[in-house]
Amino acid sequence: MALFVDSSDPKEIKALFAWGSFSGVTTNPLIIARESPGADLAEVIREVLTVSTGDVSVELTSEAEEDMMAEALGYHAWDPQRITIKIPFSEAGLQVLHQLTPRGVKTNVTCLMAFNQAYLAALAGATYVSLFAGRIKDMGYDAAPVIETTRRVLDREGLGSRIIVGSIRHLMDVNEAVDAGAHVVTVPPTILRKMVWNPRTVETIAEFNDAWRKRHGPR
Ligand code: E4P
Repeated sequence: MALFVDSSDPKEIKALFAWGSFSGVTTNPLIIARESPGADLAEVIREVLTVSTGDVSVELTSEAEEDMMAEALGYHAWDPQRITIKIPFSEAGLQVLHQLTPRGVKTNVTCLMAFNQAYLAALAGATYVSLFAGRIKDMGYDAAPVIETTRRVLDREGLGSRIIVGSIRHLMDVNEAVDAGAHVVTVPPTILRKMVWNPRTVETIAEFNDAWRKRHGPR
């Protein structure tokens, strides 16, 4: 089980990796457009690589197979050990995955909403399959059974893909994903900070420190 940071903001990522709890980063075009509008992708990812450890997912933005392959190989060259090519799921995406797998390129097949999609990607050798919990729930479905079934079948069939659960909107989404069998949950910084905070913890620490300051009693 692992937690990744779902962000492209090097400052945030650096601060969060100082906690020691994270082992990878996921980005997507929407996150990068929101967090660094107009920035150069290569520059953003270079900074992200510098302030983090583990796999860094970079998503393809082209939609035709040849363009996707050229884009993928370009990103892969930035850091072959750590760059993970995020492939949007489609027929062209599967074709690209099928070509990248034998080259040893790390892949993360993304935008998955259902077990059947994750299964196709796992059979084609994806390093990661990304199930989008929040977006599954937006459609009125429960994400937990999708995660559970995917994990059960991957284990039963000895498929090596690891499940990333993304599209985390609430703290409870993290807990549910872990409980349902995600190998990795990728979490936005705002939710990670909510994981730290608990009013009873704050109150308890204040109580202990207050007692410590007053330990000599009235003089
Ligand atoms: C992560 O890999 C995904 O791209 C991300 O979590 C999607 O989140 P969203 O559904 O909130 O856009």
